[in-house]
Amino acid sequence: MLSTVLQKALNEQINKEFYSAYLYLAMSAHFEDANLSGFAKWMKLQADEEQEHGMKFYSYLLERGAKVDLTPIAGPVIEGKSNLEIFKQVQAHEAVVTASINALYELALKENDYPTQIMLQWFITEQVEEEKNAADIVAKLDMIQDKGTAVLILDQQLGYRGSD
Ligand code: FEO
Repeated sequence: MLSTVLQKALNEQINKEFYSAYLYLAMSAHFEDANLSGFAKWMKLQADEEQEHGMKFYSYLLERGAKVDLTPIAGPVIEGKSNLEIFKQVQAHEAVVTASINALYELALKENDYPTQIMLQWFITEQVEEEKNAADIVAKLDMIQDKGTAVLILDQQLGYRGSD
């Protein structure tokens, strides 16, 4: 049986993953509007991944015979205006998600819940990749700033996501 405290924390993580999906979907719409279809595609695929993350927690709770508690998802807020600011927000957001996953793992240790520890290992590995992907794009945008031609090249590159 999942402990009540762990059950609550896992349900909160579902909300955080779906909020992430909402945030990246809003960013995708922003980039579509800015005629940066590659950036938009990258964000859309990122939003899809976040929904999958949320569903992993959802399925896990059901597998453990626990209650799924879906709570309202906050409206996404894009904080910056420039491409660099937006990707910096992604990077910062992923760091928050990593902290949340780590806190869940610590809780699973405290509760002596071995299956949850094993389930969370996938997310710990995934967060390394999530943070690296965001950091790579931030580094590139930092180099090119808003120089049109370079932005278009990066836009093309990001548009390849999902086709490799
Ligand atoms: Fe679900 Fe981007 O972490």
